[in-house]
Amino acid sequence: MLTHEQVEDYRREGFLFLPSCYSADEIELIRERILAAQQMPGEQVVHEKDAKTVRSLYGLHATDSLFDTLSRHVKLAQSAQELLDGPVYVYQSKLNFKAAFDGDVWDWHQDYIYWRREDGMPSSHVLTAALFLDDITEFNGPLTVVPRSHQKGVLGCDVNDGKPEGYEQQPTWIGNLTAHLRYTVERKIVSEMAQAHGLAAPKGPAGSVLFFDGNLLHASQANISPFPRRVLLYTYNRVDNAPAREALHRPGFLASRDASPLKISVADLR
Ligand code: SIN
Ligand code: MN
Repeated sequence: MLTHEQVEDYRREGFLFLPSCYSADEIELIRERILAAQQMPGEQVVHEKDAKTVRSLYGLHATDSLFDTLSRHVKLAQSAQELLDGPVYVYQSKLNFKAAFDGDVWDWHQDYIYWRREDGMPSSHVLTAALFLDDITEFNGPLTVVPRSHQKGVLGCDVNDGKPEGYEQQPTWIGNLTAHLRYTVERKIVSEMAQAHGLAAPKGPAGSVLFFDGNLLHASQANISPFPRRVLLYTYNRVDNAPAREALHRPGFLASRDASPLKISVADLR
């Protein structure tokens, strides 16, 4: 599927952007399933600090057949396999809503440190594929990355222990999922990295896909625009990088227990 240049690009820059990977019809089909998906069990639905705006839905691939098929779909799963150079499984899936007006920030962070510290994932042979479910512009909080930052491995971070304000009644792991993130990269390091490599915010129509390395430094601003910015994120982990079962304490919708290689699907999404 991917060309040699695309794989090289990804390895050097830490991300690969494929505009208009999925058609408007396919995206419409996915959007139609969101309402039903929102009915799922409580803890998998995370709200913004206002306690009413939905921020994220977790574990969709395990609760809905379309999101399962999509997680195994050739354009996402085979690309992930090629980029990670080995068979993969879905470690985590989530739909980030970044609601119009009220969708809050994701502060500067790397993903892998969460999976290492919380789940004991051995190495950063892991990536996330972000499928745009809305057109993403400079106005609705695009995912913003520091190119090449993954090359430095795990960066120094500030640890925000405890539960964020407004989430006191929730399990401890909620600190990984809110606008007040548990592990944020030190601002001094963010500044140095951005000065060295600049910033990139891939923008494009719904149906575009952004693959990014588990160690790529990234963030997104609040969405004060009147347009939603929904993104479906599948995290693919290399099968030989699965954490030991006994190290996993978080719920399965945050850290999958099933590390068997994905069976790639070439099926029509309909
Ligand atoms: C993430 O960092 O996992 C998602 C960020 C975003 O949705 O903007
Ligand atoms: Mn992230």
